[in-house]
Amino acid sequence: MKFMKAVQVSAPEGDFELVQREILEPNEGQVRIKVTACGVCHGDNMIKKGGNYPGISYPRIPGHEIIGVIDKIGTGVGGYEIGQRVGVGWPAGITYDGGFAEYMITSAVELVEIPEELSEIEAAPLLCAGVTTFDALKSSGAKPGDVVAIQGVGGLGHLAIQYAKKMGFKTVAISRGVDKKELAEKLGAQKFINTESCDVAKELQKLGGAKVILLTAPSSKAASELVNGLCFEGKLIIIAGIDEPIQVFAAPLLVGRRSIQGWIPPFGSNTKKDTLKFSLLANVRPIIETFPLEQINVAYEKMMHGKVHFRAVLIMGI
Ligand SMILES: NC(=O)c1ccc[n+]([C@@H]2O[C@H](COP(=O)([O-])OP(=O)(O)OC[C@H]3O[C@@H](n4cnc5c(N)ncnc54)[C@H](OP(=O)(O)O)[C@@H]3O)[C@@H](O)[C@H]2O)c1
Ligand SMILES: [Zn+2]
Repeated sequence: MKFMKAVQVSAPEGDFELVQREILEPNEGQVRIKVTACGVCHGDNMIKKGGNYPGISYPRIPGHEIIGVIDKIGTGVGGYEIGQRVGVGWPAGITYDGGFAEYMITSAVELVEIPEELSEIEAAPLLCAGVTTFDALKSSGAKPGDVVAIQGVGGLGHLAIQYAKKMGFKTVAISRGVDKKELAEKLGAQKFINTESCDVAKELQKLGGAKVILLTAPSSKAASELVNGLCFEGKLIIIAGIDEPIQVFAAPLLVGRRSIQGWIPPFGSNTKKDTLKFSLLANVRPIIETFPLEQINVAYEKMMHGKVHFRAVLIMGI
């Protein structure tokens, strides 16, 4: 029996435990991956804290922004070879053991090939932060030239700004303070709104109102304030997990025929493939900080407190 290093959570509210776990064999339709990098996401909190998501059980190895190489192939799997670089995203790390480990097993249908132009640490965050923002913007109904605003210049937001710009939208970054202005502009924002110094809705109305606002900031207050910044039939798309009620007046929704929508990307591998393809084509890349697997607590706490610049990635074997 061979063993691997892994980080697991044994129960809701449990710690991350660095453990030795058996390296399992892939069953029919499955492959084993030698993990090289895995992003750390707020979604991992669902395992750490415990949630109602169907299929969660413990102990669980989190991690759903996984890059690695195929190490062993089960029966009935075609089209893949040992040593091939692949990625796996959600629901790995949620409903089955994920990438905070040296090895993982997944069904082959979950795999996406990783283009050689992308390094593993660049590719990992694209499998959740990238997929979520790319898919939400692509599906938003906004057309090239439309005003599209992104609130929150963080792990998801800094990718969303790049996608929005590369999709041809008039891209607006909204942030608390001016610290991230220069970076947001470098990433593609044509306008930067500091919510600390002005009325965000009025600023957006000076541009004619936003066709789409993507809310990556986990704030109900921000959501309420943004509705008046939408244009006629504009849409506020919430991708942030906000754990308090959002208050909005009905009148601006009625009169402006505006809407509020939540978004998670589809689970299948196609959206992940499309995200990688577009990221490569449009040269969209995450800004990352790397950590060894053993420093999961440091990476996680930094992420939870908004201190990561901008996406934390665990690297195995360093
Ligand atoms: N829908 C999905 O499928 C999906 C997938 C992955 C993650 N998520 C969710 O997306 C959210 C963002 O994740 P992330 O990794 O980008 O987080 P993050 O790196 O912490 O970035 C969030 C940004 O939101 C802003 N912000 C934070 N707290 C705020 C507050 N109280 N009021 C106003 N703005 C605030 C900050 O931007 P500024 O400093 O610029 O103000 C911060 O950088 C999380 O809630 C996560 O759970 C959803
Ligand atoms: Zn995630």
